[in-house]
Amino acid sequence: MRRKLAAGNWKMNGLSAALSEVEALKAAHPAALVDILICPPATLVSSAAQATPGSPIAIGGQDCHQNQNGAHTGDLSAQMFADCGATAVILGHSERREDHEESSEIVRAKARAAHAAGLVSVICMGESLAQREAANTLDIIAGQLSASIPDDCTGENLVIAYEPIWAIGTGLVPSLDQIGEVHDFIRARLERRFGAGVGRSVRLLYGGSVKPDNAADIFRVSNVDGALVGGASLKQGDFTPIIRALEDSI
Ligand code: PGA
Repeated sequence: MRRKLAAGNWKMNGLSAALSEVEALKAAHPAALVDILICPPATLVSSAAQATPGSPIAIGGQDCHQNQNGAHTGDLSAQMFADCGATAVILGHSERREDHEESSEIVRAKARAAHAAGLVSVICMGESLAQREAANTLDIIAGQLSASIPDDCTGENLVIAYEPIWAIGTGLVPSLDQIGEVHDFIRARLERRFGAGVGRSVRLLYGGSVKPDNAADIFRVSNVDGALVGGASLKQGDFTPIIRALEDSI
């Protein structure tokens, strides 16, 4: 069975004082029934990882470069994240795709680098509002899936996050049927490409305005194995009820 995953994406939020939220999470979930991943800004990855050894909380990056090292001022490699204690990295978030013009091909190269460094890649994809209104959602997802996901994927090194762009940070959430349609579609595509074994073992997260009051409903949708949470992951008091809702869904 796929182990459920509650992942927090802190984006560009958090100074050293925010490590107290990681400590509070650790205290609130000493024996979590689900995997918990916190992806703080890169500046906090090392100290967050040092604060969580042996706990159910894993630490991840929010992006990495596709090369191992070299003349790439300001970039960080997957190896560097692994070296400072990260075990995962978010890739292809729509904010990276938009702000940094990252193509699916670059995301795929980054995922290969992440896997080579022993990191789990959490690869994000999702449609814009215009694409949904034009009934293009499944075509967009199909394209992002085939171009962003490398061939070396397994249930251990790949997590996919479906994040409709219009739901991120807006308080808008697709209907449960809409979420289920996309998650079932992703599952079927994965099984077709990688075979039933790998296809069924990859975890699929929903992301976009997941909050304590809508999490339980979302976690009942088929093929939703957890959530990628932005705003509501910044405070332990908001993230804990989401983690508990995921535990209750088992
Ligand atoms: P949100 O962000 O939960 O604040 O909508 C989700 C994400 O961007 O991963």
